Amino acid sequence: MALNEEDAALLKRALKSAGFLQYLNPGEIEALTRAFDKTLMKKGEVLIAQGTIGSIFYLVAEGSVGVYRKRAFLDKRIALLPAGSFVGEMALISKQPRSATVACEEDGIVFTLLRDDFRNILLGNPHVSDMIQRLAVKRKEELVDDEINERIRLRQQSAGQEPPKP
Ligand code: CMP
Repeated sequence: MALNEEDAALLKRALKSAGFLQYLNPGEIEALTRAFDKTLMKKGEVLIAQGTIGSIFYLVAEGSVGVYRKRAFLDKRIALLPAGSFVGEMALISKQPRSATVACEEDGIVFTLLRDDFRNILLGNPHVSDMIQRLAVKRKEELVDDEINERIRLRQQSAGQEPPKP
């Protein structure tokens, strides 16, 4: 169902903050207004669980989300993303399981888009696709760095070179 006027305006603002709006033509904006759903998010709510299969793209319109990686005891927050950020693109591009857990850090509003609409509308636009793919590559590099650092830390810990950390 298409968003109402007020929600469509909110979506437009979020697309602008994400840097997409200037590259979208009126037809694409109209298609996105029909395809995106609006969801209220509550602090602490988990939008994405690491390791699961993903089929949704998320655009944060209000509030903020934290990106967490699994650890033996306490998951580690690797990023705090404000309104105007998007998440969930990596699993939709790579068809890999979700690379991290994403949870709401404060109450807000998120717009959700299903995989096919994400691929057809956003990845169908060369500029927007390029922006999304570049960020996905950068995020992947950060995850690989985090993984390497964690392995080094665990090895040093088991070799008694460092006091155990959670
Ligand atoms: P996906 O793998 O589908 O699900 C988890 C999401 O967390 C991922 O897509 C990205 O949107 C986001 N994410 C992963 N790594 C990072 C990072 N280093 N910085 C910010 N967001 C990230």
